[in-house]
Amino acid sequence: MKILVIGSGGREHALLWKLAQSPRVTNLLCAPGNAGTAELAANHPVAAGDLPGLLALARSEQVDLTIVGPDDSLAAGIVDLFQKEGLRVFGPVAAAAQLESSKSFAKEFMVRHGIPTAGSATFSNPVAALAHCSTASYPLVVKADGLALGKGVVIAQSRQEAEAAIRQMMIGKIFGDAGNTVVIEEFLTGPECSLHALIDGKDYLLFPDAKDHKRALEGDHGQNTGGMGTISPSRVVDPPMQERLKQEVMEPFVKGLAADNLPFQGMLFPGLMMTPCGPKVLEFNCRFGDPETQSLMRRLKSDLIDLIEATIDGKLAGSNPIWDERAAVCIVLASGGYPGPIEKGKVITGIEKASADPDVVVFHAGTILNDGQVVTSGGRVLGVTALGYTLEEARRKAYAAADKIEFEGKQLRRDIGA
Ligand code: AMP
Ligand code: GLY
Repeated sequence: MKILVIGSGGREHALLWKLAQSPRVTNLLCAPGNAGTAELAANHPVAAGDLPGLLALARSEQVDLTIVGPDDSLAAGIVDLFQKEGLRVFGPVAAAAQLESSKSFAKEFMVRHGIPTAGSATFSNPVAALAHCSTASYPLVVKADGLALGKGVVIAQSRQEAEAAIRQMMIGKIFGDAGNTVVIEEFLTGPECSLHALIDGKDYLLFPDAKDHKRALEGDHGQNTGGMGTISPSRVVDPPMQERLKQEVMEPFVKGLAADNLPFQGMLFPGLMMTPCGPKVLEFNCRFGDPETQSLMRRLKSDLIDLIEATIDGKLAGSNPIWDERAAVCIVLASGGYPGPIEKGKVITGIEKASADPDVVVFHAGTILNDGQVVTSGGRVLGVTALGYTLEEARRKAYAAADKIEFEGKQLRRDIGA
C-alpha cells in the first residue's frame, strides 16, 4: 500500500514510524513533513491546509490511503473532499469534526447524550457574556468556541480576568472568528488524562490511557502549550475506572452519534479530568493527540494499518490489538521562548547518540534539513520517547537521551511523569 500522512508534527512522525513497520506498506509519503519524516517517507511541500494541493498530490501519486493528522485540515473538510473524489481517507468528515472545532457543538452533544462535563453557558453576544461574569463564581473558565492552537482556554481567577478574556476573544478577535462565540464553564479540579479510541461509526476500540503535560513549566506552571510530554499508561486510570469511562463516556458517545445521525470514522481523543465527582470530559479532539501519539505508537505492537482500515470499513468489532506492557514516556524538547515567539534555524546535534539506546526513539516535530544539517523550525522540536519496565525506568532512559541532544535555547520539563 502507498500511504500519505498529512501534517508535520511529532504525531505524524510517530504514525509514519509505526506504519513503516507494516509488511503491508510499500511506500510512505508525507505532506509537508519534517526532517524526521524524510527518513521514512517522501516529503512533499504541500501545506496541511492546502486541500486542493493535497488532493492533487494524492491523485498524481496514486495514493491508496491518506491519514490526516491535524485538526484544522479535518475541520476544513479534507475528508469530505477526498471522499467525494472517491479517495480512501482516514478521519472524520467536517460535520463530525465539529465535536472538536466547536466547543459549543461538543457541549450540546454531551448534554444531549448524558456525557459528564463541566456545567456551561454559551454566548454569541459579548454584552450577555460580560453580564454573566457579574453573577458567576470564580475561578471560571472562558473558552473560545473554535480552534485556537490550544490557546483558546483562559482560567479566570476573578471577574476582571474573565471580562478581559471575553473582550479579547469576542471584541479584540485575538483568535479571529474562533472567538465569535465563547463557552463559559465551571472550573473543575483533579488529575487529567487523555483517552484515545478509534470509532468506526458504530463500534469503538479504546487505546491505553495516556497523560499529557500541557503547561510550559515544571510543576504545571506557565502558559498552556500544545503539550510538553506524555506518559502511557497515565497512572490515573485503573481497570475499574477504565470500565467506568467505557460506560459513562464511550458508550453514550457512540449511541449519540447514531441518534444524531453523525457519521464519525476516525480517532476520538477525549481530554478528561478526574474530579471528586467522577470523570468529566473537558474537550473532544477528533484526531490523534500530539505528543500522546508518540507514547502510544511505542506501545502498539499490532499493525496500525489494520486498525485504520477496520475503522474506515466499519469493522472494528473484534479488533484486539496487542499493546506493550511496558510504560512509555515522551519528553518534548522545545525552542527557547515556546509557547511564545521563538527563533528558528538552530543547529541540532546529538540525535544519533540519543537514539543509540534501543528503547529510545527520537521523533521530530519542528525540524527541517538545511544543507544536510537538522535545524529547528518550530516551537516543539523533538519528542524523545523511551520504553521501560517501569515508568521510572522509561523516564530515566528518556531523560538520559534528551540530555544528549543540544540546540541553542533548548527547553524541556524535568517532571514529565514524576
Ligand atoms: P481544553 O483545550 O478544553 O482541553 O483546555 C485546555 C486545558 O485547560 C485543559 O487541559 C485543562 O488543564 C484546562 N481546563 C479546561 N477546561 C477546564 C475546566 N472546566 N476546569 C479546569 N480546567 C480546565
Ligand atoms: N496533546 C494535546 C493535543 O494533542 O491536543
